[in-house]
Amino acid sequence: MKRRGIGIMSGTSLDGIDVVMADIEGNFTGTSMEILCSTTVPFEKNLEKRLRSMIEKKTAALNEICSINVELGEAFAAACVRLCEIAGIALDSVDFVASHGQTLYHIGDEKEGVPSTLQIGESAVIANRLKKTVVANFRAADVAQGGQGAPLVPYADFVLFAHEGRDIALHNLGGISNLTVVPGSNRLDDVLAFDTGPANMMIDQAMGMLYGKPYDNDGAHAAKGMMIDTLMGALMHHPYLLQKPPKSTGRELFGDDATRRIITPYLENHYPDDIIRTLTMFTACSIRDAYEQYVFPYYDIKEILFSGGGASNRFLMETLKTMMPSVRVKTFDKNGIDKDNKEAAAFIILANETLSGLPSNVTRATGAKQAVILGTIHHYFDEKETL
Ligand SMILES: Nc1ncnc2c1ncn2[C@@H]1O[C@H](COP(=O)(O)OP(=O)(O)O)[C@@H](O)[C@H]1O
Ligand SMILES: [Mg+2]
Repeated sequence: MKRRGIGIMSGTSLDGIDVVMADIEGNFTGTSMEILCSTTVPFEKNLEKRLRSMIEKKTAALNEICSINVELGEAFAAACVRLCEIAGIALDSVDFVASHGQTLYHIGDEKEGVPSTLQIGESAVIANRLKKTVVANFRAADVAQGGQGAPLVPYADFVLFAHEGRDIALHNLGGISNLTVVPGSNRLDDVLAFDTGPANMMIDQAMGMLYGKPYDNDGAHAAKGMMIDTLMGALMHHPYLLQKPPKSTGRELFGDDATRRIITPYLENHYPDDIIRTLTMFTACSIRDAYEQYVFPYYDIKEILFSGGGASNRFLMETLKTMMPSVRVKTFDKNGIDKDNKEAAAFIILANETLSGLPSNVTRATGAKQAVILGTIHHYFDEKETL
């Protein structure tokens, strides 16, 4: 059955709401997908500020959480409307919406509480504004089976690349850096996926502190700076890098507070660009080390396809090319799925499985005890059509 879906994604960078529309047909490795349009809609400034503040401070009043869940639902719905307007495609032609939501908190470590994860952006609001079936809350079922609820994109990577019959790596550089290895064996159980550490998160925070800018455009500041060896040494000893996969991370370890704490001792005696360069080199080195330790010895990787905003950081991409000379480092581009819409497109693939009653977690990547159907389906009741 052919369906038209809109995928909505808002990652840890809080840089905007990514929306993509696609026609999708078939399931699992028999899926075919045609991208129709995509865009990123910035958050309304005040909403972004409040979200960022509660996520960073790890605390908020209950009424604020209650309210922002609905406000985000409205923002997600408005982003879908905007996408249809830009593309000149009628919202009426859309069958379903797949909404990842905004992660408010993720508990992976039992010391902190019961392992759990919370994505907000009320699906009932999206369903009723757009008059569509909405699939949301993708991570909860995997967590209920003892998984981390993350990463979920590897299933979509497998669907898109399994037929190639060769080992290939897909790498997303969002706030966090994560990789998927799709095996040439064509077996979902052989997929390897984990977070290598930060991608842009620490660089963005340092750019805000040092220059009042949201990110290092093209990596221009990093390109001008000199690496600070002592800071680099300290960063490369971060305990997260020593953990074995499967592993996932977020703002808890590499967010604004952590970045501030790590770089503050170096501010007095070093140029701002040296800090930016060192943080960018940390992203690159932690990625290279992850491949050298956990990927290259076990898979025959000739090509890594990079997506996410970090793939637009020219200095970072050039550094990765130099550091991993045995592989082709490329920017993701496949059948209209590009570096900027890939994650949102992945959720269309996951929702399509959910609507077909099929599971779509990769248990080896999430650690779940068994396969589960991901997501909560919110139906829309059209009173006029029914009467
Ligand atoms: N031209 C650019 N140069 C350098 N970095 C960029 C550029 N464009 C985007 N970025 C980085 O990408 C980030 C957004 O990436 P994205 O994939 O949307 O991450 P997330 O999924 O966490 O929202 C920005 O915060 C910024 O750090
Ligand atoms: Mg983003």
